[in-house]
Amino acid sequence: EKGGHRHFMAKEIAEQPSVIGDTIRHYAGTREIVLPEPGLDFSQYDRVLLVACGTANYACFVAKYWFERIAGLPAEVDIASEFRYREPPIPARTLAIFVSQSGETADTLAALRYCEGRVDRIASVVNVAESSIARGSDIVLPIFAGAEIGVASTKAFTCQLTVLHMLALKAGSDRGVLSGTEMETRLGLLSSLPGLVNHAVGESAEVERIAREVAEVEDALFLGRGAMYPLALEGALKLKEISYIHAEGYASGELKHGPIALIDQTVPVVVLAPSDELFDKSVSNMQEVMARGGRILLITDPAGARKAGDGCWRVLTLPEIAADLAPILYAIPVQLLAYHAAVAKGTDVDQPRNLAKSVTVE
Ligand code: F6R
Repeated sequence: EKGGHRHFMAKEIAEQPSVIGDTIRHYAGTREIVLPEPGLDFSQYDRVLLVACGTANYACFVAKYWFERIAGLPAEVDIASEFRYREPPIPARTLAIFVSQSGETADTLAALRYCEGRVDRIASVVNVAESSIARGSDIVLPIFAGAEIGVASTKAFTCQLTVLHMLALKAGSDRGVLSGTEMETRLGLLSSLPGLVNHAVGESAEVERIAREVAEVEDALFLGRGAMYPLALEGALKLKEISYIHAEGYASGELKHGPIALIDQTVPVVVLAPSDELFDKSVSNMQEVMARGGRILLITDPAGARKAGDGCWRVLTLPEIAADLAPILYAIPVQLLAYHAAVAKGTDVDQPRNLAKSVTVE
């Protein structure tokens, strides 16, 4: 049942090239994104509201960057447990999107109920199409991850990201922000994603070597800028939930506003930084860490490794990828790092202590 893998989590990490491919095929044509009935027309909305818990919330957070940058559409992200009790006012022409692997998370479902009659449309991105959250939605956008058994979400996260990315493309096109040619280019780039993810999955042995060293530490920091910031949060969550190593994710620019006080030789700092237009800013942050004796694990592309690899404790190199697709690719080493650190520590990878796969109580 684990397909020759030691844990479900390892199997599910390895399945990502194929399930991301399946997810793309369900929505992407050569020229356009096709949504299941009854469809969505983004020209009808002035704002998207994305609500979820945990890892699914970080997928929403990445999507905020996409909706804003690709479609010029204001996007707000909320944690379901905060949203539902805050009971915020909701402006007209709002599309609400709920993201949930299980489709049964109590807080996310309650947030959806709050939105009934208050938003123009309720969409959900779920892995379980017969779930309560799916049933409560006007439109269901399934991911095609297949059953996810490991408590730590891996393939559901990258498939959620894949669907949300395609929604942002659709939004760009519906709103006249993305031309037909740009859409075709972006769909072409998307079709190369499974191959790139496959490459990243193939680097597992190298991540394992680094993870054995990370397994020795008590605390770790994850830093990222732009859409890599939510990935830093996800990296920290993954590491703490399965290896029980204390980890925090920060926006790189926040380093000097507090967390830099933690830096010394004992705290590895994982920097997620493809060589995009924000790269030089990340390099400055890395220098601040190094100047204080901090150890950097840089996760970047070949150009980034050439520019900034010197002085880093370790460098993991991923293939070059279009900037907007980087969050999906960079999820892989982050998952592998947590997985191998947990295996090195001997924790229960698939059933971490105190956690449940589906959180149906508040
Ligand atoms: C972390 C993890 C959780 C879930 C969260 C939401 O690895 O799996 O943070 O993402 O409990 O669950 P769903 O997506 O089922 O609503």
